Amino acid sequence: MEIKSVSFLMSNTQLKACPEKALPEYAFIGRSNVGKSSLINMLMQRKELAKVSGKPGKTRLINHFIVNDNWYLADLPGYGYAKVSKSDRAVFHQLITRYILNRQQLVCLFVLIDVRHAPMEIDLEFLEYLGVNQIPFAMVFTKSDKIGPKAVQDRIKNYNEVLLKTWEDIPQQFISSATTGEGREEILDYISELNRLAKLEATS
Ligand code: GTP
Ligand code: MG
Repeated sequence: MEIKSVSFLMSNTQLKACPEKALPEYAFIGRSNVGKSSLINMLMQRKELAKVSGKPGKTRLINHFIVNDNWYLADLPGYGYAKVSKSDRAVFHQLITRYILNRQQLVCLFVLIDVRHAPMEIDLEFLEYLGVNQIPFAMVFTKSDKIGPKAVQDRIKNYNEVLLKTWEDIPQQFISSATTGEGREEILDYISELNRLAKLEATS
């Protein structure tokens, strides 16, 4: 898919204030600092579209963008950031769960996982939550440039062994790097295909 246009629409703390057109939507979520904003910038080939930060917890709102005038992209706040207060965390949690469970347009939630780390309870629980609630999602292993390709394969193999303890099938997965652009084409092609299917569904 070629990105012909992308613009920032709005930042929100409330589901009901999110953009309203019936366009397919794709959201990016994951632990704080996993590289959500960086991945969005890489996919869109725009350096500063989504705010990137060395400090975890930068994205605190749902940020909506419109791409090619025909789909929405949402940058969600990171979960599991220890340094925010308990009450802030509860607010994030509520915002995220409300969004995930109620956003009609949501076609696929991309769950980002730092490829360097061993499976973390918080991510496994989150994936489980999506499964239980039948939310369509895909996993993206980020920051592949930080370790070699062999190490990437080893980590993913290990991750999938853990997943298979609770999942029947391995979910759709991508490998990405905001630095090298790895995964860009695959993720955009995937979105493109889902957009095509969403359109067919809407007209049938
Ligand atoms: P929050 O909004 O705080 O939840 O973080 P985020 O998930 O949006 O992460 P962000 O994109 O801000 O990136 C966090 C840090 O990781 C930044 O210092 C990025 O430069 C770095 N980073 C993100 N993706 C990559 C990557 O693919 N490769 C490398 N080498 N660094 C990355
Ligand atoms: Mg961010």
